[in-house]
Amino acid sequence: MSLVGLFLTSFLVVHLSINMLILFDDSRLLFNEAAHFMATNPLIQAFQWVLFVGFILHIILGIVLQIQNWMARPVSYKRKGSSEMSFFSKYMIHTGAIVLIFLIIHFANFFIKAKFGHIEMMDSGSFEDLGLLIVNLFKDGYYVIFYVVAILLLGFHLDHGFQSAFQSLGLNHSKYTPAIKIVGTVFSIAITLGYITIPLVIYFFK
Ligand code: HEM
Repeated sequence: MSLVGLFLTSFLVVHLSINMLILFDDSRLLFNEAAHFMATNPLIQAFQWVLFVGFILHIILGIVLQIQNWMARPVSYKRKGSSEMSFFSKYMIHTGAIVLIFLIIHFANFFIKAKFGHIEMMDSGSFEDLGLLIVNLFKDGYYVIFYVVAILLLGFHLDHGFQSAFQSLGLNHSKYTPAIKIVGTVFSIAITLGYITIPLVIYFFK
């Protein structure tokens, strides 16, 4: 669970770096070129299967873990807030489920269209204009709100998941654990702000 989670986190960094390109080039050439490279490079295409298996494993293991937790303590604490856990750590299965719903909608928005639909070519005729799909989607305020809320919840999921992964791997140390927590929080904030910036900048400024 921990290793797969950390692996998925590395995908988030690559995906964000490529998506960010759309904000720095109004012609969308830079983003479309990068997206074309990702979609045609055989190594990356093979890696995509590893990614999908990773997502499915992470979801199945998460559900199993949650059921085990419920069975271990069928009656919840009488006094709410009496456990030592942080607020969002108690809601990993809930934030995870919302991220999953987000992913299904996200796939319908982009992945299915990119793989199986017809994407217009750029005016220059050089690449498919996947970037236009993003810009058009984020002209719709409802989608912007949906993406922002879902990504915020992903941020909370990441924040707890990061430190929890190290703990599960047995890398718990009175000296290093606080540092790992800080790194995890800074990383989660950076990822969340990065992803949220894309729909907001497109909606308000493009
Ligand atoms: C503003 C935010 C985002 C934008 C603009 C965006 C854009 C895209 C686009 C255009 C694709 C299709 C790429 C292709 O198939 O050629 C895609 C695929 C995908 N996205 Fe996102 N994405 C965003 C956020 C996220 C987040 C937060 C996650 C994870 C929780 C995510 C996970 C995925 C996955 C797993 C795929 C399929 C694999 C791939 O094509 O690389 N995306 N995204």
